[in-house]
Amino acid sequence: MTDARLEPLGENHLASVAAMFGDEDVLRYTRVPNPVPPGWEREWLEVYEEGRRDGTREAFAVVDADDGSFLGLGLAFGIDREGRQLELGYVVAPEARGRGVATRTLELLTQWGFSELDALRIELWISADNEASKRVAANVGYRYEGTLRSFHFKQGIRDDFEVWSLLPSD
Ligand SMILES: CC(C)(COP(=O)(O)OP(=O)(O)OC[C@H]1O[C@@H](n2cnc3c(N)ncnc32)[C@H](O)[C@@H]1OP(=O)(O)O)[C@@H](O)C(=O)NCCC(=O)NCCS
Repeated sequence: MTDARLEPLGENHLASVAAMFGDEDVLRYTRVPNPVPPGWEREWLEVYEEGRRDGTREAFAVVDADDGSFLGLGLAFGIDREGRQLELGYVVAPEARGRGVATRTLELLTQWGFSELDALRIELWISADNEASKRVAANVGYRYEGTLRSFHFKQGIRDDFEVWSLLPSD
């Protein structure tokens, strides 16, 4: 098991973010466009920086708690501060997978959502085929709620999405 911590995503992480765009699971299971336009990581960071300013999004780099090396991304989007709910996402760099990093990331993101945003509902949308991500959700105590069928995801791609959630009372 690798222990991890979150730090705000910034320019210094962009090369590591771009390196993950070559991974087929990242292209398949995340909203990263496929093919990835050159320099897209910078545009994407700008969207999250805008979200930080208006309170609707937050992006964290997941780093090794011991040596600070980059392990992946922890994301919060669709933050509804008035409605006190949000959606979370996570991506682990291929070389850091299988060591509990995503599970730790989701634990940290979830604690942040409940403590910093005072959330009453946290949601995950997971492709029905993404067995590893479903394990991560279950590990942290999220509950499966139902499946959105043939949901338009990106660039003409439709997929079945499982919705999982966690409430402070769970
Ligand atoms: C999904 C992902 C985040 C998992 O990261 P990770 O750090 O390897 O995850 P963890 O080590 O915390 O745990 C993964 C769990 O899934 C299991 N798992 C891994 N690959 C699996 C597979 N192909 N089928 C079933 N289970 C699998 C592991 O055994 C582990 O289960 P356990 O905790 O019960 O032992 C990573 O593969 C990834 O970044 N994928 C691409 C992006 C993505 O899919 N993001 C999520 C979008 S909803």
